[in-house]
Amino acid sequence: MMQKPELLLPNRTGKLPADISYLREKYPRETWDEHRNFGQTAQFWLQMHDMFRELGGMLKTATAQFREGGVAPDQFQRFFAPRLDYFLGHLEGHHGIEDYSYFPLFRSYDKRLIVGFDLLEEDHVMIHELLLSSAETGRAFIEALHTEGDARRFAADAYADNSDRLLNWLLRHLDDEEDLVIPSILEHTEDALFGH
Ligand SMILES: [Fe+2]
Ligand SMILES: [Fe+2]
Repeated sequence: MMQKPELLLPNRTGKLPADISYLREKYPRETWDEHRNFGQTAQFWLQMHDMFRELGGMLKTATAQFREGGVAPDQFQRFFAPRLDYFLGHLEGHHGIEDYSYFPLFRSYDKRLIVGFDLLEEDHVMIHELLLSSAETGRAFIEALHTEGDARRFAADAYADNSDRLLNWLLRHLDDEEDLVIPSILEHTEDALFGH
């Protein structure tokens, strides 16, 4: 389905419109975890998202510290390389599970959610492109760590530009997804949606 351009992830400046995220106002975020239908899937979903927020923030901070010259290349590499791998790999896996297992269940249970989940799936496609280029610029950055001068600086700039954009998009996406997923679970229950 063709989406309105202003709703596409790179152009989104705030939450999704209330007619798409139609249960958001009925279930304010502050009340989610106290609701009786807040189950294990909802909890796990939010925990995964918090992990991505936290790890994305840690990578960003570490990269900034290194670029300011406060950390030795070896030390930075030991911290950065495995976490970047973990972050990108798990993000890709998480989106795959959503696209193939969860989103179809929401769409088929509640037709009013189709527009929103189609948008979220399109977000995944756009995030995937940035994820690939973050992996690529991240690898080049790691390779350039032990060189001096411009090459290292350019590699760091390229990675930082890319990963900052990825994190910004991701933070928008995670919020919007939660605003669709959690209120739907509270409204319909996990049993009804996922059959468990
Ligand atoms: Fe997602
Ligand atoms: Fe997600």
